[in-house]
Amino acid sequence: MKIIILGPPGSGKGTVSEQLAKEFKLFHLSIGEMLRKEAKRNTQAGKKIRRYIEKGDLVPVQLAVKIVKQKVKNKNKYLLDGFPRSVEQARKVEDLDIDLVLYLHLPQSKVIERLSGRLLDPVTGKTYHKKYLPPPKNILKRLVQRKDDHPKVIKERFKVYNKETKPLIKYYQKKEILLSIDASGNPKQVYQLVKKNLAKYIQYNY
Ligand code: AP5
Repeated sequence: MKIIILGPPGSGKGTVSEQLAKEFKLFHLSIGEMLRKEAKRNTQAGKKIRRYIEKGDLVPVQLAVKIVKQKVKNKNKYLLDGFPRSVEQARKVEDLDIDLVLYLHLPQSKVIERLSGRLLDPVTGKTYHKKYLPPPKNILKRLVQRKDDHPKVIKERFKVYNKETKPLIKYYQKKEILLSIDASGNPKQVYQLVKKNLAKYIQYNY
């Protein structure tokens, strides 16, 4: 199974991917997480990536595509979390023969609430939420907010999402591999819904 998880910033792509990868033993590639790791380094490339992320912009297409192609080489069970993010990126990885695109949708107001309460564990890369996915008390002190979860950057990320990423919905609909999931429930409800839809899809197609 080769799956893409698509959705606006903060729609829960990472949260769903983590659970799916664990349960179905899929390789989980979060390109955002990879880029954040790279951005922490004090190299020329790291600094450049940091500037894109902190502005809420996409990194250059060639870089994103190169990372993905390298990471999934010789693999056939994976989840691409946050890639592709534009039709241009999607066209460059047509050869991956993606089976399914899970599109998580929910209203923008909900997404903003999720992003403003998000907490990141810099040690494990795991994500929590102050209200919806409270972290264990013993790690509270080390948790941080992502720099790109600042309201100004969130606004920019949405602009980029609407302009660059949203057209992917039609693109994958035309290919008849898009599954729309209502992601407005709590994390458990959303995951159950994903699994239910996935099971239906597999039953019908295989
Ligand atoms: P990335 O890290 O991928 O950011 P994003 O797409 O904006 O998505 P997020 O990570 O913000 O949210 P998510 O949908 O994973 O939600 P999460 O599960 O965390 O990318 C960051 C940057 O990297 C980009 O802006 C760009 O610069 C660059 N980049 C990445 N990919 C690129 C590409 N392909 N090309 C070029 N550049 C690229 O959940 C959010 C919060 O809500 C959490 O606190 C979580 O605990 C909580 N939550 C989750 N589900 C629920 C629920 N059901 N109910 C209540 N709370 C919930």
